[in-house]
Amino acid sequence: MNTSARKKAHDNLSDQQHKNIAFFSTRSYEHALFSELLETLNGASDKTINATFFEHPLNASTACCCGFSDVVVFVNDDINRKTIEVLKHCGVKHIALRCAGFNNVDVDAAAKAGITVSRVPAYSPETVAEHTVALILTLNRKTHKAYNRVREGNFNLGGLMGFTLHGKTVGVIGTGKIGQAVIRILLGFGCHVLCFDPHPNSDVTAMGAHYVTLNELLEKSVIVTLHCPLNEQSHHIINAKSIDKMPQGVMLINTSRGGLVDDNAIIKGLKSKKIGYLGLDVYERESELFFSDHSQDIIQDDIFQRLTTFPNVLITGHQGFFTLEALEEIAKITVNNIMTGENAL
Ligand code: NAI
Repeated sequence: MNTSARKKAHDNLSDQQHKNIAFFSTRSYEHALFSELLETLNGASDKTINATFFEHPLNASTACCCGFSDVVVFVNDDINRKTIEVLKHCGVKHIALRCAGFNNVDVDAAAKAGITVSRVPAYSPETVAEHTVALILTLNRKTHKAYNRVREGNFNLGGLMGFTLHGKTVGVIGTGKIGQAVIRILLGFGCHVLCFDPHPNSDVTAMGAHYVTLNELLEKSVIVTLHCPLNEQSHHIINAKSIDKMPQGVMLINTSRGGLVDDNAIIKGLKSKKIGYLGLDVYERESELFFSDHSQDIIQDDIFQRLTTFPNVLITGHQGFFTLEALEEIAKITVNNIMTGENAL
């Protein structure tokens, strides 16, 4: 945030010399970044923002946070109608999402309660795009398996054969900021890129990608990657019927939101070998698992556990956004949203 933006932000606090904000689902890396940023801002003015960091998520049973004007939340906090009622009762005026997606917030209920909701619409689309391509390359060239083999002195190449990405057709569903960043990288690899988006963008065609119907994309792409938001239209956009249309051995990548894919259909597709590779950074019921250490627990989610047993499945725990540059940008924009009311939905 530049000096004038910082001044503007502090001027907006004129009726409130001190602002108390509560962070939920906070991990140590975020705590450090936000604390440092707030310390700098508070040092530059007599108006202060006091932050309290909670590790637990925000949901209806943890929402009783009187004394806080703003709550700062993340992807798996559950801000449903009930949570919003409690927040309203406690005097919360603003829900600041420190992420891009907002499928976990009942936006209508918030509006009715007079609570504004802001998000970080773009921090570094390239960060998520690069992780998407990391999943594609790892699944294809099996570097995760090769790493373990070589460490054990096994230099046998059996089972490690990949395919050349150059010249292959890749389907990108959702051509917003992240989808476009993925397309730029894939075109650089020499792939043919087919796209589907209800709102086509001329920048995408200018880059050399082609818009087609969803059916044509599914039929012609050897890799399908998802970059659309989760909403009523896109829920389970990948289901038994759409998998049927894909070529045998297709690679499916989802770094967007878990609810875009029907996991039972995916498991059937993996068992029948229709799906030859699956890369996930998100999972429909990830809130029960992700961002915490469950290595000593008996994981109760049988669908997730089944997915992890396939040799051609690679799952990461929602880390697409996780670079220093992206986190710094998220922290700056979130604090700016709190102070200026920008990026309201
Ligand atoms: P964006 O808003 O720039 O682009 C989304 C695009 O999807 C838009 O062009 C929109 O028209 C399109 N779209 C909407 N409904 C669609 C549908 N049914 N089928 C096809 N396209 C559709 O969003 P951005 O920044 O590119 O992010 C995309 C998604 O990535 C976010 O909604 C979020 O869920 C996910 N994400 C994941 C992260 C991670 O760490 N894994 C980090 C950040 C975002």
